[in-house]
Amino acid sequence: IPVKIFSSLEEGSRFIGKEIATLIREKEAKGQKIVLGLATGSSPKSLYTELVRLHREEKLSFKNVVTFNLDEYYPIDNDALQSYNRFMKEQLFSKVDINPANCHIPNGQWKKEDIKQRCLEYEKMIEEAGGIDLQILGIGNNGHIGFNEPGSSIYSRTRLVPLDNSTRIANSHDFQNISAVPRLAITMGISTILKAKRIVLMAWGQLKAPVIQKAVEGNVTEQIPASLLQQHNDCIFVTDEVAASELT
Ligand code: F6R
Repeated sequence: IPVKIFSSLEEGSRFIGKEIATLIREKEAKGQKIVLGLATGSSPKSLYTELVRLHREEKLSFKNVVTFNLDEYYPIDNDALQSYNRFMKEQLFSKVDINPANCHIPNGQWKKEDIKQRCLEYEKMIEEAGGIDLQILGIGNNGHIGFNEPGSSIYSRTRLVPLDNSTRIANSHDFQNISAVPRLAITMGISTILKAKRIVLMAWGQLKAPVIQKAVEGNVTEQIPASLLQQHNDCIFVTDEVAASELT
């Protein structure tokens, strides 16, 4: 997996923002829509700040953009502070000219008995949109992508999953305490992610250095879900210097 190393996360985010802007404009020139797969969490925040800047200062339009988010906690209210639905509205959707009808994200309020069907529909919507042109990913300290925790099958699709305890601890700073972190999540599967035409994974900071080393240089294993990206033919990692510091 090629790794592009930047001196700061802001610089790395500007690089990804530029890539996205170029893709949007290329598609727009052909009168086509572009389908983006999006991530939440702390890693993509500065990317969304950059996309909002490109919209405001460089007239980048999101009118032809369709989005599918990776995941959402389950259960969670859409307007809860920690909800990824709320996160996306606040960080990006409400600040650009995207059509809300084009923004798709698993919903933490789906009825339990409907989840299977909703997940199937989510996969179908991605297919009907023509598949994901560019998938943005973060990476968990345990190697998860989306909420596909270690052991997730390479054939997995959008589904309800249990969160690892380490993930619940890593994300507990957003909640009042660890027991308030939902035990479940709805996530695109590994196969859903690998079907994207292009993948960009971003990682910033010292905490991510060990897992970046394993994902890039280690064996391809379901125990480190991000290592499965080695099997994709158009995937890059974008990191800062410390996140890349354990690469040999
Ligand atoms: C979020 C997601 C997760 C995060 C990962 C890293 O949509 O899919 O895989 O990307 O947990 O989270 P941060 O960026 O907060 O370190």
